[in-house]
Formats: sequence, structure tokens, C-alpha cells
Amino acid sequence: MRRLMVTGGAGFIGSNFVRYMLQAHPDYHILVYDKLTYAGRLENLQDVAEIFSDRYTFVRGDICDVALVDSTVEAQDIDTIVNFAAETHVDRSLMEPGSFIQTDVYGTYVLLESARKFGVERYHQVSTDEVYGQVLDGRSTEADHLEPRSPYSASKAAGDLMVLAYQESWGLPVTISRGSNNVGPYQYPEKVVPLFATNAIDEEPLPVYGDGQQMRDYQYVLDHCTGIDTVLHKGVLGEIYNVGTGAEITNMMMTEVVLETLNRPRALILHVADRPGHDRRYALDVSKLRTLGWENQYSCVQAVEKTVRWYADNESWWRPIKSGDTYKSYYAQQYGKRLEDA
Ligand code: NAD
Ligand code: DAU
Repeated sequence: MRRLMVTGGAGFIGSNFVRYMLQAHPDYHILVYDKLTYAGRLENLQDVAEIFSDRYTFVRGDICDVALVDSTVEAQDIDTIVNFAAETHVDRSLMEPGSFIQTDVYGTYVLLESARKFGVERYHQVSTDEVYGQVLDGRSTEADHLEPRSPYSASKAAGDLMVLAYQESWGLPVTISRGSNNVGPYQYPEKVVPLFATNAIDEEPLPVYGDGQQMRDYQYVLDHCTGIDTVLHKGVLGEIYNVGTGAEITNMMMTEVVLETLNRPRALILHVADRPGHDRRYALDVSKLRTLGWENQYSCVQAVEKTVRWYADNESWWRPIKSGDTYKSYYAQQYGKRLEDA
């Protein structure tokens, strides 16, 4: 029986990963350790708690809390840490960078230190293609320099460097995966695909930043989960693996797929003021992960379509979020003036 601690497991990708891993590995016990910020929700794991009650445990906690992290790792006899916990939204990192540095950098250090103290057999860091910065030509390989350009991506890059430093300095058995934009069930509707899908369902404007010609590799979350599983089982210690479809589309194309899937008019598209420092293009070379036998199942277009259909079928999940005061005040701050000016 392996005993995994999945930090940030109540968020979007983490909850999909926990569900996938418990199904795929009947001999695994998973402890989710999560602070439950606005993006973390126990509802995301409700079915998991029922179906896998004997192999699933939840602890509410902050990865920056040294005492609670240490006591959990020690008392629960954790052999593997998979760290998803992070502040993750670029727009919020432009409003308030402090919590990104705290969780994505200091929190990563706390987990690494605990892994070292208690002899954890594997520490896996879930990172992002954004650490490479914008890539106007070609594709990012794992050997590329890091050139992050937002407070979010700079914090994630610092986290990655700390992970590698623990490997170099103390031989901590680490791996890192760098994923492209994920889409799928349970993504908080501040990220573009769930935001556009839910706005389109309600026939509200879709606020496209700038000209919408930015390019992103929208991958289906399950492909990212199988990618991380592959790295955990076949990855080489100390190595980094990119995870994505390896082919990107423009935001305008993604927006059109959202509208077509829901049979909504193009008139809902509204070009608004751009994101400051907006990275024009991310593009991953995923050949290294493919050499381990991994393949993605969904293209960007299929991933977006499948996601939009999930939001259309699961209004009971997102309506309470969008009608809450926390979401409404964020939306007013982020989009109020933009929508007015447009
Ligand atoms: P998310 O925002 O949906 O979830 C983050 C989770 O972390 C939430 O459950 C939240 O409660 C928890 N959390 C935040 N701060 C915490 C803290 N201090 N202590 C404990 N828990 C805390 O994020 P996501 O989109 O699922 O991303 C998960 C990871 O994957 C992140 O590390 C992110 O950088 C990385 N990533 C995301 C994408 C993407 O497209 N969403 C792509 C590549 C990599
Ligand atoms: O690339 C991986 C990263 O993808 C992850 O590390 C991040 O955690 C995740 O949030 C995501 O970052 P992006 O900034 O690419 O995702 P977001 O959904 O915020 O935006 C996707 C694209 O859509 C981007 O070019 C900005 C644009 N956009 C976004 C929003 C929210 C809009 O045009 N309008 C919007 O309202």
C-alpha cells in the first residue's frame, strides 16, 4: 500500500487526480491536504469520499504550516508527496502577488523540508509551462531557461528551483512536471474556458483580452493526470517532464468552440482591455514524456468541447459559486471597468 499526500487535492486538477489515482491504483491510500481557499472545495471530492472511504483521508491545512505539515507526514506514514497546492490565477497574481509568493514559494519549501526530515520516497512538484515565459517561435523543452513574466509564473519558477536545489543539496528524490492549460470538470469559473462556457450559457458577454490571438495548449485534465501518474511510475529522479497536447490554438478559436458547442451567437464576444504583460504564446515539446509511453487522448478542440458540455450538464456545481459574494466582487473588480469601456 502506497501512502500519498496530495496537497491542493480539493482544487481543480488535484481533485481529478485523486479520483483518477484511486481508481487506477487499488493499493493506494490518498491523504488530501488542502487549505480550502476560494478555489478548493470539498464538493469536488464528495463522490471520492463516499466511494473510496477506506482509502481516502482529508486534512484541512495550509502548506505553510510547518507543525501541521510535519505531524501529518509523520503520523500518516506518507511515502509520496504530490504538490498541487498553489495560488494559480494569473489575473489574481496581478491584483495581489503576496499570497502567491507565500504559498507557491514558501509553501513548497515547507513541504520539501518535511519530505527531507521524514525520508519521503518521492516528492513530485506540479508545475506549469508558464515558467518558460512566452514562446513566440518553436517549443519549450525541459532544458530551456526559465523566463517567467507574471508574479504567478515567477512564484512557480522559484518553487521549481527550490525543488531542484533539494535534489542537488540533499539528494531528495524529486520529479517535476510542467503542464499546459488544463480544462475539464471542477475548474473554478475564473479561468477562461469555464468562465466563457458559463457566461455563454447565461448569454452574458465573453470578455476576450486584446485581439484574442494569444495561443494556449488547452489539454484535458485527465491527460495531465495520466501524465503525472506516468512520471511518478516511470520518470527518472531529478528530471522534469512537460505535459500537454503539444499543439496550441488561439483564444479566438477556443472562444468559437465554446459558442458552437452551446449554440450561442458570436455577438457575445466582447474584446476588452488586455491583461498587463500578457504572454502571447506558450508551446510545449512533450516528446520526453512520450518516450515513457504516455500519450494524450484529447486534442485542444476536443478538450474544450468536452469541458463545455460538463458545465452545461452541471449547473448545480457552478451556479452557487457564481452567485456568491466572493465571486461577484472578484468579477466586478476584474471586469467591471473593462466591460464598461468596451
Ligand atoms: P486550483 O486553484 O483549482 O486549486 C488550488 C488548490 O490548492 C485549492 O484546492 C486550494 O484550496 C489549495 N491551496 C491553495 N493555497 C494553499 C495552501 N497555502 N495550503 C494548502 N492548500 C492550498 O488550481 P489548479 O488549476 O488545480 O492547479 C493545481 C496545480 O497545477 C498548481 O500548482 C498549478 O500551478 C498547476 N498547474 C495548473 C494548470 C492549469 O491550467 N490550471 C496548468 C499547469 C499547472
Ligand atoms: O499554462 C498553464 C497555466 O494556465 C496554469 O499554470 C495556470 O494556473 C492557469 O490559470 C492557466 O493560465 P492562463 O493565464 O493561460 O489561463 P487563463 O484561463 O487565465 O487564460 C487563458 C487565456 O485566455 C489567456 O491568454 C488569457 C485569456 N483570457 C483569460 C480570461 C480569464 C481572456 O481572454 N479573457 C479572460 O477573461
